[in-house]
Formats: sequence, C-alpha cells, structure tokens
Amino acid sequence: MPAQHPSLLKISLTLIATIFIGEGLIMLILPLLGPMSVTATALLDATLLAVIMIPVVILRVLNPAKESIAALKKAKFKAYAREDHMLSVLNTLALVKDNETGTHIIRTQKYVALLAYRLREMGQYLDCLDDEFIVRIIKVAPLHDLGKVGISDQLLNKLGQLTDSEREIINGHALIGESILAAANLNIDDDFMATAIHVAGAHHEKWDGSGYPRNLRGNEIPLAGRIMAVADVYDALVTERPYKKPWTHEQAVEEIIKNKGIAFDPIVTEAFVLEQDHFKEVLEQYRDN
Ligand SMILES: [Fe+2]
Ligand SMILES: [Fe+2]
Repeated sequence: MPAQHPSLLKISLTLIATIFIGEGLIMLILPLLGPMSVTATALLDATLLAVIMIPVVILRVLNPAKESIAALKKAKFKAYAREDHMLSVLNTLALVKDNETGTHIIRTQKYVALLAYRLREMGQYLDCLDDEFIVRIIKVAPLHDLGKVGISDQLLNKLGQLTDSEREIINGHALIGESILAAANLNIDDDFMATAIHVAGAHHEKWDGSGYPRNLRGNEIPLAGRIMAVADVYDALVTERPYKKPWTHEQAVEEIIKNKGIAFDPIVTEAFVLEQDHFKEVLEQYRDN
C-alpha cells in the first residue's frame, strides 16, 4: 500500500494553525519577561516563532515532501523499467522476422541519435527536441520495421524484382507496425508510444507527399518519421541487399542531398550533411560481416 502524503491544503492549515497558536503562546510569555524595547520584543517574537515552526516544518512539510519525491522517482523508475521490458520484447520480435541484419538496427539507431542532437544544436525543431524526445526516438528507432512481422518470409526474402502487388504488401509493414504498437500500449507513457508509432508508421513518408502509407507531406509527417527516414535510407544505400550492391558513402550522401525537399525534410537533410563524417564512422564501426 503506498504511503499517504498530506495534501497541500492540510499542510497549509497545519502551518497557519501553528503560527496562530505559536503567536498566542508568545504573546502570553512575552509580558512575563518584563519591559523590553520594541526591537527586542520583535526579535524575541521572531526567534520564538522560528523555534516553534522549525520542527513543524520539518515534520509536516520537508519529510513528506522528501517521501513524495522518493515515491515519484520510484514510480518513474518502474515506468522506465516497464518501457525497457516492453521494448526488448518488441525488439526481439522485430529482429526474429526482420530480413535485415542486427547491425542495421544498431546503425540506424546511432544515425537517429546523430541527427536528433545535430538538429538541436542547429536550433531547429526545439519545440520537439527536448532530452526526453531524443531519448525516446533513440530507444524506439529499432522498431521502425516491426510491421515486417506481418509479412511472409518468402516475400521479404524474395530475390529479384517484386511485382506491384508484392511491393504493396511489403509497404503494408508501416501500418502493421503502427497497429502492433497501438495494441501493445499497455500503461506505457503516451509520448513514448506515440514516438514509437510515428517511427514505425511514418518512416516511409516523403517530404513531397509521394511516400506511404498516408502520402503525408512536409511537416504533416511527424518529426520522428522524418529523422528515421534519412537514417534508414542512408543505411539501405550503403549496405548490400539481396537486390543491390552497396553504394559508397559518398554516393549515398549525394543521393540524400539530391532528395533534399523531395523525399527528405530539407532541415533534416542539412543535419545529415553536417553529420556525414559521423555516419561514415558508424558504418565502418558496425559493418555487416
Ligand atoms: Fe520500413
Ligand atoms: Fe530499416
């Protein structure tokens, strides 16, 4: 059973009552001490009131406040632990089915961190990019392709050209990912889940409105999706896939710049340009075997 803490009203009433009773007692005591100057009376009054108030403030204000802060910290810690647990379950699910490698997940998570911190350094999207948002987007980045659990292995691993209907089925992974996350929303912080849903559902949207699943355009696309898009595409370009050879880092940078304001948010693209050397470092550090 959690400890019950006195309400602000109770605390206020206790303090008022203590001052009232304390002052009454002091007024009774002071005349017994004989004649004194006004200054001495005021000083003695203040000192006696402080002596009466200090233990009351400690017992009725400071101690309960400390307990409340400790209880809040504990609740927050429990919420984080629950989020981490939920994340690791979903991550495992995503990895089991993902036709891409585990290093793709690690690299894209690191690219997302580079872009988010750089955007903040550039003074962009500051209304969104507080510490909590950045921690959240880094944590949920590995879930961007979670929806692939709903697509058959045969189709995901198909070599060669996909038909239009096959492409459409694969594109469905964005909405499937969103639905899984919405259904998994078990008492987890709303902002956390919203960021996960944005990453999974909007990482294939394009700035000019030609992306999927909703053809969102410009700032209609959640920022988490716009950041994830650049990270995901860079990694797809520079790594080998069943249907393509890896591009060089320089070719990938050129391609992303070419798509500034077309596929990608122009400001996120600028952040990418400034971070390109760090992207290359991440790629080299976490190369696929
Ligand atoms: Fe995807
Ligand atoms: Fe991906």
